[in-house]
Amino acid sequence: MKKISITLKENEFQKSHITEIFENITYTQKEENWEIEIFTKNFNRDIKIVKNLFKNNIKTIKDVKNINWVKKYQKNDLGVETGFFFFSQNTKTQNKRKKFKITLPNSKAFGTGKHESTYLAIKNIESITKKMKIHQSCDLGTGSGILSFVLKKLTMKKVVATDIDVQSESVFYENKHNNSLNGIQFFRCDGFRSKKLMKMKFDLIVANIYLNPLKRMGKELSKNLKFGGYIIVSGILDSQKNDLINFFNKINLTLTKNICLRDWVSLIFIKKK
Ligand SMILES: C[S@@+](CC[C@H](N)C(=O)[O-])C[C@H]1O[C@@H](n2cnc3c(N)ncnc32)[C@H](O)[C@@H]1O
Repeated sequence: MKKISITLKENEFQKSHITEIFENITYTQKEENWEIEIFTKNFNRDIKIVKNLFKNNIKTIKDVKNINWVKKYQKNDLGVETGFFFFSQNTKTQNKRKKFKITLPNSKAFGTGKHESTYLAIKNIESITKKMKIHQSCDLGTGSGILSFVLKKLTMKKVVATDIDVQSESVFYENKHNNSLNGIQFFRCDGFRSKKLMKMKFDLIVANIYLNPLKRMGKELSKNLKFGGYIIVSGILDSQKNDLINFFNKINLTLTKNICLRDWVSLIFIKKK
């Protein structure tokens, strides 16, 4: 693999549509210029295009070692700890202090535990399951399956996991199998839009999903939650918090807890009787 580095002025960069020409490209703005790196396995073809379009802008051409970044990242992973859990990307990383150990390799589905939104959601699940007995819970937008695995370990009851994404489905089953977990039912659907799921009522719903889909699904969330049940929301920026709180208040969901880490927040709402 080769790396071709070029520098373009702002107007040259905008006019060039360079990001649409090459598949493997990075670009960063440095003062008035754009620093561009094109990674190519087809050097003879791509250098012709670059020379044709940006002959005077070429800075360097270098060889790049072929590194499997996913494997390297997994090997060097130090893991993530919460109150009860240790999450790692490989089975070799040890942690004897935590009660539960879950292995989730980096994959095409979101959820290794490293992102603030996942971490905060887990902290809130740990806190709520200490306070009340949960009989049936749902992880809406499960990604890698991480929050449904946490729910299963902490409640030991029926758990439902859902996601709209095809890749999530296969990653979920692989992770579930590798962590020897049972009793978690997966639905691939948009929100609660599945015949079976629509009829289910939960004591706890966890949704680490961005603000707009959350608002769009607000009514369904409330409908599928039992009276006295809780919803844990994550994936929300601090600046978006009040918008969601006001929106949820209108559908009978009242804020009971609010935790944050850097710019991210995770909120707990109750559906009052
Ligand atoms: C930020 S990731 C969270 C993954 C994981 N639950 C976690 O906490 O790390 C959001 C997930 O929600 C899923 N998602 C987005 N919109 C959805 C929808 N309308 N219905 C179901 N899943 C959805 C995405 O495919 C993605 O896997």
